[in-house]
Amino acid sequence: RFLPATKASPKEMLPIVDKPLIQYAVEEAVAAGATKLVFVTGASKRAIEDHFDTDPELERALTESGKDELLRSIQDIVPKGVACVYIRQGEPLGLGHAVLCARPAVGDEPFFVHLADDLIAGEPGCLAQMADEYAEHGGSVIAVETVPRENTSSYGIVAVDEGERSRITQIVEKPAPEDAPSNLAVVGRYLLAPEIFGKLEKTGRGAGGEIQLTDGIADLLEDSSVHAYSFDGVRYDCGSKLGYLQATVAYGLEHPDTGDQFREHLMELLTD
Ligand code: G1P
Repeated sequence: RFLPATKASPKEMLPIVDKPLIQYAVEEAVAAGATKLVFVTGASKRAIEDHFDTDPELERALTESGKDELLRSIQDIVPKGVACVYIRQGEPLGLGHAVLCARPAVGDEPFFVHLADDLIAGEPGCLAQMADEYAEHGGSVIAVETVPRENTSSYGIVAVDEGERSRITQIVEKPAPEDAPSNLAVVGRYLLAPEIFGKLEKTGRGAGGEIQLTDGIADLLEDSSVHAYSFDGVRYDCGSKLGYLQATVAYGLEHPDTGDQFREHLMELLTD
């Protein structure tokens, strides 16, 4: 949806003000307690690895020119004690397949799945909120928000049992509005029990001919509890041009380097 911008560079490297989307993802995961970051990447996504690697030449140049703040901004991207693992998904077989590719690095522990093109502004971050929710009842936790009925075919849609801490009773990938069990949509944040891997191994191709994470989760519902979590925050769909622009404006207005002047500029632009 971003061609030609994403022809040679991954969409996760699109910047919102001065950081690429994938860096917001890393910051949110680290703030939620993640100590191992597993990046499932594919063709032409090498820029992601480079972004999180050290760059001694750039560091030297910034040190010599006394640009301490910029130096810190490139040194602190991945905090000490946090490991990065890169896994290539040989073929783009779908989100469920991408998650399954991470299995050797994740092992037999609960883990987060973060889709970097869903940017969520919130304090604490969405994953940290979900970790708190998980601490209370275990199982798996999936972030959801209500969407207009006509948009159900862009999301995984869940039905919940309100009585039981929003336990999910049904999940369907991208249903037409008339087939959707509700208008509660899955956004790109999951905290999953490792049992999902066994389910994904058996998951066949689903919507769009892809191995869907949603279908693996539907299988997981049979024998373990999965909860829908309505997070506190604002989600921007940075996989769409409009959502990306909305995020840029919102973050630009909040950023200490640009906020005041950007606000003035927008006012001028809109009142002309
Ligand atoms: C994926 C999931 C979908 C989920 C969405 C959230 O879809 O398959 O269930 O609702 O992320 O962003 P995609 O946007 O990759 O098509």
